[in-house]
Amino acid sequence: MSRVALFVTGGVAAYKACEVLRGLQRAGHEVRVAMTDDAQRFVGTTTFEALTHSPVLSSLYGLDGDPIPHISLSEWASLALVCPATGNVMAKMAAGIADDAVSTTLLACDCPTLVAPAMNVRMWLHPATQANVTTLAGRGVSFVMPDSGLLACGDAGQGKLADVGRIVEEACALLSGSPRPRDLAGRTLLVNAGPTHEAIDPVRFIANASTGKMGYAIAAEAIARGAVVRLVSGPVSLDAPTGAELVRVVSAADMLDACLAAFDGADAAVCTAAVADYTPRHASRHKLKKSVERLDAIELVETTDILATLSARKGDRVVVGFAAETDDVIPYARAKLARKGCDLIVANDVSRPDSTFGADTSRVAFVSAGGVEELGTLPLPQVAREVVDRVAMLLGGSS
Ligand code: CTP
Repeated sequence: MSRVALFVTGGVAAYKACEVLRGLQRAGHEVRVAMTDDAQRFVGTTTFEALTHSPVLSSLYGLDGDPIPHISLSEWASLALVCPATGNVMAKMAAGIADDAVSTTLLACDCPTLVAPAMNVRMWLHPATQANVTTLAGRGVSFVMPDSGLLACGDAGQGKLADVGRIVEEACALLSGSPRPRDLAGRTLLVNAGPTHEAIDPVRFIANASTGKMGYAIAAEAIARGAVVRLVSGPVSLDAPTGAELVRVVSAADMLDACLAAFDGADAAVCTAAVADYTPRHASRHKLKKSVERLDAIELVETTDILATLSARKGDRVVVGFAAETDDVIPYARAKLARKGCDLIVANDVSRPDSTFGADTSRVAFVSAGGVEELGTLPLPQVAREVVDRVAMLLGGSS
């Protein structure tokens, strides 16, 4: 078991540190927390004490029974994770300032350090902040860079705390001593994700339970490993990973067109999307009236199979499909591998609560011409890593 000292500093994203903490614990790591005074304005020490069953270090003085708690914590930690990191704490880290429990402990830490910044876009882009990032990175500090999106202050831009799963994944990678390889540098991947919506009329559509989490996690993993990622996404409520070339689509037909365009010049495609199998033959322009028009007699036509279409034109490129099943998982996955002509099927049993749509974990099996490889239940970022490992192997790179 590894030990993570989690340093929480003052920003709205402090509440997300609770989820990061839980993710680290689920991955088997022990966590202790240090907080600045400002962080405690957003989340109380009681929350972190209850989650860790340990006292929170919030002052250099007066922690029961430990006269020098900042040294004890720095010696205990095998990873220092600053999350969320304000511009202020990064400035202190860069300058070696030690004027509170967090900055003093960080100055005493000689373990690997991971920083997940979160702040207003102008504060993030300020040359002082950027220079501090460069200084810290030059000293070997790792970063999970902030995402772009709507910020708590109402501004839009880069500064949002990175996805919790990505932070946990990066922390786990540092703890395992195996930071991500850049084995997809120079490669372009198409990833499709999410459900599709098939219009019945202006207010009704056929959809499914896909959340897009798996596809987005794979896109983030591939980007972190150096790939250019074209993410063709159905309607989901997720922020795209920083750096993804996002194409938003709604229907299966739109997704087919976008995927065909994105596959042009790509090295591989990973088809995680839950594409609708059927679509109404005609979408009504007006809202159908159930008393007049037969809503129970909507004529459906089969959609084009995107995975099979890409596989048919792949040449020596790599195409990976997914199979969400509720029974006979492996036989159905084998049949899909043959029917669709792809290189690999990632099969998962969506009848299991730890592997169903929307879960933060998944239990998958890799089914290929070479055989079947079953994995245990893993957090989604780790599943994404395993999938991208297989893509890298199929592409002939090392992983
Ligand atoms: N798929 C696709 N286009 C479709 C249907 C499915 O590209 N019109 C892809 C999915 O993205 C996934 C794989 O095919 O990678 C398997 O999808 P799944 O829904 O499990 O299988 P189906 O082909 O729909 O077969 P069934 O409904 O019999 O399980």
